[in-house]
Amino acid sequence: MPDKNNIVFLDGQFIAMSEAKISPMDRGFLFGDGIYEVVPSYDAKLVGFGPHIERMQNGLNAIGIKLDLGVDDWRDIAQTLIEKNGKGNLGLYFHVSRGADVKRFHAYPDNIQPTVFAYAFEIPAATKADKSTVKQYKVASTQDLRWKRCQIKSTSLLGNVMHFQQGQEAGVHETILYNEHNELTEASACNVFIVKDEVVITPPLDNQILPGITRNMLLDILRKYGTLQVEERVINMNEVNAADELWLTSSSKDIAPVVELDGQPVGNGSVGDIWQLAQSLYCANKYNY
Ligand code: PDD
Repeated sequence: MPDKNNIVFLDGQFIAMSEAKISPMDRGFLFGDGIYEVVPSYDAKLVGFGPHIERMQNGLNAIGIKLDLGVDDWRDIAQTLIEKNGKGNLGLYFHVSRGADVKRFHAYPDNIQPTVFAYAFEIPAATKADKSTVKQYKVASTQDLRWKRCQIKSTSLLGNVMHFQQGQEAGVHETILYNEHNELTEASACNVFIVKDEVVITPPLDNQILPGITRNMLLDILRKYGTLQVEERVINMNEVNAADELWLTSSSKDIAPVVELDGQPVGNGSVGDIWQLAQSLYCANKYNY
């Protein structure tokens, strides 16, 4: 899929990426004033489409952007992007900014049209529940210095970008974050789970984390089809350091096993049995959402 010829959606039209132009006065550009989503699609089968669109609508409501696109409209856009860009493993990126004004002024302007952009990009093949082939992640940890509205999937991602970059500079794949009370929040672009004594634990939903669709689906799948104990509760970083397993979840990663945290092995330093179980339940049920 050469990027130049990638067919994208911009304000009602499907056009080549090279033709897609947005005003420099767009508030998405000036203020990061917008909401986005990433939905995975494997061989044209979408994962968690309804919940993704519902979260986007919640985000738009939270920041007062009114948009006349319902879940069926978004599904049409998704299907057209898949048809035009080839099936395979795609992430569908949806982006709504408040739109372009004639001046730069912080308050929400009246009567401007939101800018709606969507495109498809390649993502890795769906994760298989196979310990011997799965990518093993290494992470670092640092204090969460982002804002206090992390439940909104805002396009203002500089805080996340800076934390991700810290990880890159430390030679690891991701950065996991903790608040001023030494409690785990999430990672710069993923939610986080730990496993201790066969109990699967993840932080509760609040303003410190994104309500990840993969997180929510995994919790639901484990509770419906698994036999493991599952808890949503505050997790101290001491518990993270003493965990048997550590996982990252996101739409483009499914459940990613972490084998090293801050240079130390997680558990016995290899991919865990509970990961294998959880990923196989996830593979079997993820298309039902
Ligand atoms: N990231 N937390 C943060 C801060 C995220 O950015 C993401 C997703 C998640 C996981 O959410 P979900 O399971 O709904 O993908 C958690 C996306 C993929 C991104 O920004 O590219």
